[in-house]
Amino acid sequence: MVSRGSVTSSEITIADLRAVPHFAADVADRVWRAWWKPKGVPLEHVTDLARENLGSGPVPVALVAHRGPTFMGTASVIASDMEERPHFTPWVAAVWVDEMFRRQGIGGTIVSHAARAAFAAGADTVYLCAVPAKRPFYQRLGWSLHERDVGGHGLDVFTRKSI
Ligand SMILES: CC(C)(COP(=O)(O)OP(=O)(O)OC[C@H]1O[C@@H](n2cnc3c(N)ncnc32)[C@H](O)[C@@H]1OP(=O)(O)O)[C@@H](O)C(=O)NCCC(=O)NCCS
Repeated sequence: MVSRGSVTSSEITIADLRAVPHFAADVADRVWRAWWKPKGVPLEHVTDLARENLGSGPVPVALVAHRGPTFMGTASVIASDMEERPHFTPWVAAVWVDEMFRRQGIGGTIVSHAARAAFAAGADTVYLCAVPAKRPFYQRLGWSLHERDVGGHGLDVFTRKSI
């Protein structure tokens, strides 16, 4: 299971949400705005999902990038992220960095921490799906393109192996 401690780099901390539960509302807010609000799903539903990351199991896990009290970004490890690929598990998902903090390496760092959290939870392969526009970003981070054009949104599926 992922360490409940935190890793600090240049004053930016990547922490398990369980160590910084006061950021749960920020995680829910960003994930809701990016992926659920456009589908008409109420914020309360995503708030409940965010709280699942505070449980004692190895998955789900939410990570938070923050500088002191300032929320910067988040990524999660969840059991399932694509109904077309129910046998793939776990997934790095809900990768988000607040706009003002982008292009500083935080997104790459938090995705890598999330993959390590999945491996620490016992996975030897971790999955991720993304729109094709994000392909260079994930490939540069060491993710392998496993499949293209999956599902109704034509997503890429990536894998990363534990080493
Ligand atoms: C995708 C996302 C998480 C990236 O976050 P980020 O913090 O900007 O990520 P990074 O800084 O690690 O990398 C982003 C780019 O900045 C570049 N970069 C990293 N550090 C940099 C620096 N110090 N100076 C300039 N550029 C830098 C990276 O090379 C990368 O380039 P690319 O876009 O050509 O791949 C962010 O844009 C986001 O939240 N988008 C909206 C939600 C989303 O699309 N999530 C992904 C769903 S699959």
